Amino acid sequence: EFKENTSIVVFGASGDLSKKKTFPALFGLFREGFLDPSCKIIGYARSKLSDEDLKEKIKPHLKKPNGDKDDEKVEQFLQLVSYISGPYDQDEGYHALLKVLEEYESANSIERPHRLFYLALPPSAFVSVCTQIKKLVYAEHGETRVVVEKPFGHDLQSFRDMQKDLAPLFREDELFRIDHYLGKEMVKNLVLMRFANTFLNAAWNKENIENIQISFKEPFGTEGRGGYFDEIGIIRDVMQNHLLQVLTLLTMERPVSYDAESIRDEKVRVLKAFAPIDHNDILVGQYGKSEDGSKPGYLDDDTVDPNSKCVTFAALGFKIQNERWDGVPIVMRAGKALNEGKVEIRVQFKGVPSGIFSDISRNELVMRIQPDEAIYLKCNSKTPGLSTASRVTELDLTYARRYKNFWIPEAYESLIKDVMTGDHSNFVRDDELDVSWKLFTPLLKYLEGPDAPTPEGYAYGSRGPKNLTQYLESHKYAFENGG
Ligand code: BG6
Repeated sequence: EFKENTSIVVFGASGDLSKKKTFPALFGLFREGFLDPSCKIIGYARSKLSDEDLKEKIKPHLKKPNGDKDDEKVEQFLQLVSYISGPYDQDEGYHALLKVLEEYESANSIERPHRLFYLALPPSAFVSVCTQIKKLVYAEHGETRVVVEKPFGHDLQSFRDMQKDLAPLFREDELFRIDHYLGKEMVKNLVLMRFANTFLNAAWNKENIENIQISFKEPFGTEGRGGYFDEIGIIRDVMQNHLLQVLTLLTMERPVSYDAESIRDEKVRVLKAFAPIDHNDILVGQYGKSEDGSKPGYLDDDTVDPNSKCVTFAALGFKIQNERWDGVPIVMRAGKALNEGKVEIRVQFKGVPSGIFSDISRNELVMRIQPDEAIYLKCNSKTPGLSTASRVTELDLTYARRYKNFWIPEAYESLIKDVMTGDHSNFVRDDELDVSWKLFTPLLKYLEGPDAPTPEGYAYGSRGPKNLTQYLESHKYAFENGG
């Protein structure tokens, strides 16, 4: 266990990620009793701030899960927090940091220091910060844990270059690569749902499944970060990482045990069975103004190249060439500036043999990752009463109803707790990234090369490109009410 007397250093403490995610997650763990009340939290960044300035910055983001304030807890939490201003790539700030760490450790008579370094920083800073950590503040006689966040490279080569620089500094078990989707409650439930339920496990194959869909919809565009997004696109932003993680957990074989290495071994194994993404089996889009003209199109952003073919919507067809999945169409789709915000998995089962019933719908298992976690299974049932007609109904596990009094942790809360206890199950291993970049890099090169297709336009706030319905149908998806 790596829980008591930990020092947590948040690099990039004055930035957006730490303000919105890292500190609130640490607070959430503190509030719920999962953070040692004698731990030490040190913010580190270049900005010249006082301890108080940092606290004022993060305070508005520290809330209860329902959004209410919790003044007493917030004050207790903020007492653990202090700040150091320093450069990322030079020794001076790290000397100051070491002094604070050592003072804390000796005041608490800690013989084996536990130091957790959270890099809430852009990847361009990863290597220099990691080099400095190793050189000056690494816990030689204790535990060092380093947390980094995507993007882990821009393509296969840049990922490998970064890895080449980081690998000599830290052991793989000291590095925690966050993909925050792996910390989401419903994503964490996938292994359990699949492998702890005989009926699901038995039907989880090409004999019974007609198609799989993973969809990510966001109701807002790239407002304010167009310049950044233009280099990235929706595929790198959420598909190569977040949605691929979901898909891997959904399709991997049963791990030999529930431990991190067994799970990650299976993830890598199934990824290796993915066929290359067929460039003719994709649908790409870019949003324009909303129908009423009130919302800007992607190209209206001044920071974006006016001829940009950057993809803000994509649907990609996947094929897994193994015994379980051969021939099952899998569609992953993601889009910005759509009609709603929702992330869900849909698994449609094959139809029943014809004969006794007419007009029977397929079973469909829906796992809603957000908002409002839910799992429901559409099934056919007799209409109650004297009629023998069938109707589609749902076996429904909506969390808000069934698990009323449960605390559903935020993804970052869950992941930081795992870092503290040293559980790597929900972090991305280096070889996993290698295979996933191998899978996506040719597609990205094509979409960014001279033969790139022009993305199909869609209105801000719409369901996406017009061809989506036909695209999904061609992957055997059957709509009940228009999708
Ligand atoms: C981030 C992407 O990784 O994930 C964002 O960079 C995206 O563009 C976000 O909005 C989605 O995460 P969540 O948890 O809000 O679904």
